[in-house]
Amino acid sequence: MQSMKAGEISRRVLVVDDESVVRAAIAQALERLGFVVRLAETGAAGLDLVGAWPAGIILLDVRLPDMNGLEVLKRLSRDHPESVVIMITGYPNIEEAVASIKQGALDYLVKPFHLSDLENLVAKAQEARHLRVAPQPPATEELAVSELDALVGKSPAMQTVFAKIRRAAPSDSTVLLTGESGTGKELVARAIHQLSHRKHNEFVPVDCSALVESLLESELFGHVKGSFTGAHQTKHGLFELANHGTFFFDEIANLSHNIQAKLLRVIQEREFMQVGSQKRIKLDIRIIASSNRDLREAIKAGDFREDLFYRLSVIPIHLPPLRERTGDIPLLVDHFLHKYHQKSKRQVRGVSAEAMKMFTYYPWPGNVRELEHTIERILILEDGDLIQPEHLPSFISGRQGDFQVFSDGELTLEGLERRYLQFILRRTKGNQSEAARLLGINRKTLGQKIQKYGLRTSF
Ligand SMILES: Nc1ncnc2c1ncn2[C@@H]1O[C@H](COP(=O)(O)OP(=O)(O)OP(=O)(O)O)[C@@H](O)[C@H]1O
Ligand SMILES: [Mg+2]
Repeated sequence: MQSMKAGEISRRVLVVDDESVVRAAIAQALERLGFVVRLAETGAAGLDLVGAWPAGIILLDVRLPDMNGLEVLKRLSRDHPESVVIMITGYPNIEEAVASIKQGALDYLVKPFHLSDLENLVAKAQEARHLRVAPQPPATEELAVSELDALVGKSPAMQTVFAKIRRAAPSDSTVLLTGESGTGKELVARAIHQLSHRKHNEFVPVDCSALVESLLESELFGHVKGSFTGAHQTKHGLFELANHGTFFFDEIANLSHNIQAKLLRVIQEREFMQVGSQKRIKLDIRIIASSNRDLREAIKAGDFREDLFYRLSVIPIHLPPLRERTGDIPLLVDHFLHKYHQKSKRQVRGVSAEAMKMFTYYPWPGNVRELEHTIERILILEDGDLIQPEHLPSFISGRQGDFQVFSDGELTLEGLERRYLQFILRRTKGNQSEAARLLGINRKTLGQKIQKYGLRTSF
């Protein structure tokens, strides 16, 4: 077989759709962007073609004359895992298109669509493909962010995050960071900036929830003298400050519709105007956004623009909660001990095995931030050169008799259940029959919950 450069395949797009108008429109739009496009009318023809002509991106209709698009998708995922598939659907079949994402499609396009939506998704597909085929860098437990700070983590989930950061950093693609509060979204944004060619320019974070709408516009875009009452002088906005650097929109779900529309224009056109000015200013920034609210839910609720979401989530990175990667806890504890040694001028040898166990059993509703504050507090408030269970707050060590519900962060219902189960197990000294009786559940259910939450059963 002829050898083929990876670059060539990534420029190839296969369109499988029985509507000739749709095929032609897609082909025309993508060929203009430099893609090589081939067309197929049926699922079987599409599968045949991709066997002989591997394509980087496949646009696949949900309804085809000969077979269901989902069936074609299944075969593509099995036989051509490196191709990225985007489904095309009409209104009645949206549910199937959504189901297709669970089966490995990247996204879906609803007919009739704007060419800009198509271009958007194809750009996203190219990034996704790059992530799929690029070679894996060697695993490390630490990713330096600055001289003082680093992202640490050895769990498979964090290793995946590190790999995505490394691959995303050199590009200018927009990144969307999601995850609960305290999981490290801002630190990841800084890591991406540090690993990019923009690292010598500014990293500008803006907390979208903290700014008043009326001020936000002039903060972001700047204003010219006299543009509104009180604008005595021309002011440069944060976008200009971030030029050639990285802009971090923290808690993006809080942006008003007005600012969302303006931001969308900035992302599309890469230029903006100061408030009160007609002059367009060119902008070269990399945008990273974060949200701890599910943006797809925000879209459904009418709070967030879908088109902006697609522009932002070219590279989505999700940060899992700490309770789902307890293997990282000892590493993080060491990392923060080291970090706060200088500040508290106190040296400790480390953490006793028993105390470390308690750290790993605690569900950390406030995630890494809560862990960090806990270590900082212990170093300030407690004596001793080895951290022992008695140095830990009672809700972590469970020493107190009463069941403590509240801690620094908010507690989910699952978090509450986990904590109550652990409390009861501790009270019964790990006697599961007794615990199940007190909880009013049978032993099998208790066993399942112990497994699910990774509860401690020996005391
Ligand atoms: N993997 C990690 N390694 C080292 N430190 C971390 C890690 N994750 C988070 N941290 C630290 O935890 C604290 C909280 O992280 P960060 O501010 O990035 O969280 P966040 O997801 O932005 O939270 P929020 O949604 O509440 O703003 C920071 O001090 C950060 O340095
Ligand atoms: Mg944050």
